[in-house]
Amino acid sequence: MPSLEEEISSRRTFAIISHPDAGKTTLTEKLLLYTGTIQSAGSVKGKASAKHAVSDWMDIEKARGISVTSSVLQFTYEGHCVNILDTPGHQDFSEDTYRTLMAADSAVMVIDGAKGVEAQTVKLFKVCALRGIPIFTFVNKLDHETRDPFDLMEEIENVLGIGTYPMNWPIGNGRTFRGVFDRASRHVLAFEGDGRANATKRVAEVEAELGDAALDELIGEENHRTLMDDIELLDGADHEFDLEAVRTGKLTPVFFGSALTNFGVEPFLRDFLRLSPAPGPHTDSLTGDPVEATDPDFSGFVFKIQANMDKNHRDRIAFLRICSGKFVRGMDAFHVQGDRKIKLATGTAMMADDRATVDEACAGDIVGLFDPGIFSIGDTLCKVGRRVQFAGIPTFAPEHFARIEQVDTLKRKQFVKGMEELAQEGAIQIFREYGAGMERVIVGVVGTLQFEVLEQRLKSEYHVEVYRSPLPYNLIRWIDEKDGEVDMRSLNLTRETLRVEDMRGGKLLLFTSPWNLNWAEEHNDGLHLSEFGNVT
Ligand code: G4P
Repeated sequence: MPSLEEEISSRRTFAIISHPDAGKTTLTEKLLLYTGTIQSAGSVKGKASAKHAVSDWMDIEKARGISVTSSVLQFTYEGHCVNILDTPGHQDFSEDTYRTLMAADSAVMVIDGAKGVEAQTVKLFKVCALRGIPIFTFVNKLDHETRDPFDLMEEIENVLGIGTYPMNWPIGNGRTFRGVFDRASRHVLAFEGDGRANATKRVAEVEAELGDAALDELIGEENHRTLMDDIELLDGADHEFDLEAVRTGKLTPVFFGSALTNFGVEPFLRDFLRLSPAPGPHTDSLTGDPVEATDPDFSGFVFKIQANMDKNHRDRIAFLRICSGKFVRGMDAFHVQGDRKIKLATGTAMMADDRATVDEACAGDIVGLFDPGIFSIGDTLCKVGRRVQFAGIPTFAPEHFARIEQVDTLKRKQFVKGMEELAQEGAIQIFREYGAGMERVIVGVVGTLQFEVLEQRLKSEYHVEVYRSPLPYNLIRWIDEKDGEVDMRSLNLTRETLRVEDMRGGKLLLFTSPWNLNWAEEHNDGLHLSEFGNVT
């Protein structure tokens, strides 16, 4: 039996962040292939039909028959227990995508080599940067014509503000892509196989030294020459590999490859597992002291709450990131925000019948708890007799806004109740115009699918129908009042800027463009605007 310390040090809990279509699903599938979780890879079907409102993982699950909960995928590989957290993208992109990043110990950023750093990647990156977690970059689709690797690294540095360190370097590009040069071992990893689209087998690697005449044949004379020039350039640059800078999110190790054809996936996985951190300490905000992951006393926080769409079951599943100690199903725990002892039952209601309930889990793992409506996002659970409290989850900036009004004004009570409960659950954010009441409710969401979910849930759970009128705002900023109260009325703002309040009385501004935001910053001395809201 491994000790608790051994169990925890083998854990790697991470999320994959990317812009839609960069290859997150394909990479996830290939990681499962290499770890033996699945035996052969195949296109995850169903994506072409644009109207898929569920996570891609559900597609993987259906296509592969493997067990994937809607939130985390766990497998073991070479002595590591790996938890990949699902970060929904595409249409189901929502605040949950951001919240999930609060539960990860590191992130893998997948970039399409032809497109570079795209909008959604930037947003997700910012949340990782906020936490200072290590970020590993996988530049994908090298089997297709991509941009120059030096350009791509420069773009990552300039757009995201993080240093880059190429761990390997691509050999060729598009049709001439032959493999990668591993900088640590100084070996060429030339991949055997025909590079067929969606290769179904693990790719064999052939190792060779740079400058070796045999390499001309293996990777082509021209590729060999270019590679030698590139490596000379890289070696001449004064960047050193600095693990400490990686661990604090200041430097991203960059890997090149092609998930579809299996090129570069396995070396990436090996290095990632070697360099990424095991679960570390979380700060107890009551004392400011760290709670070590190996502390035998159980603790964790709720980062996501999933409603049960089944009308007959109003119960929810609260996803808990375990921060320390061990979870055992049915154990008693202290719910800090509720100030009482509760019994922890794992939630299976959302999950398919064949999914096993979790009996035991340790720091680094995620468990779905049955929630009869007692948990809020950001809540802490810990061992009975001890009181720790982890900093909550910040409120993330919505980008789509709409005014929501009920069709039947007689249903006022249900409407207000529904809106408040859904906001408290974290499904939407609600605001009111500064100085107005709940009759002018503005809803903000991160992904537009949340509007549809809101309408559907108001109808089925609260029997309220609503009108939705889109608003032109797409930028929101919280007013930071740490240095003193700000008088909303006296702010000098453009006509397109709206003053609003959140449900906790926080003051905010809504803008229609960065230009209006800049105006506010430039014309109001001492006004501090923040992209993230208060911590829950
Ligand atoms: P996502 O989860 O990040 O949205 O991306 P996903 O893996 O679904 O990949 C998006 C598209 O890019 C898919 O093609 C996929 O086959 C392709 N792709 C992923 N990795 C690579 C790669 O290394 N090289 C090349 N050439 N293509 C890659 P699609 O035609 O849009 O999807 P599908 O209809 O085949 O499912």
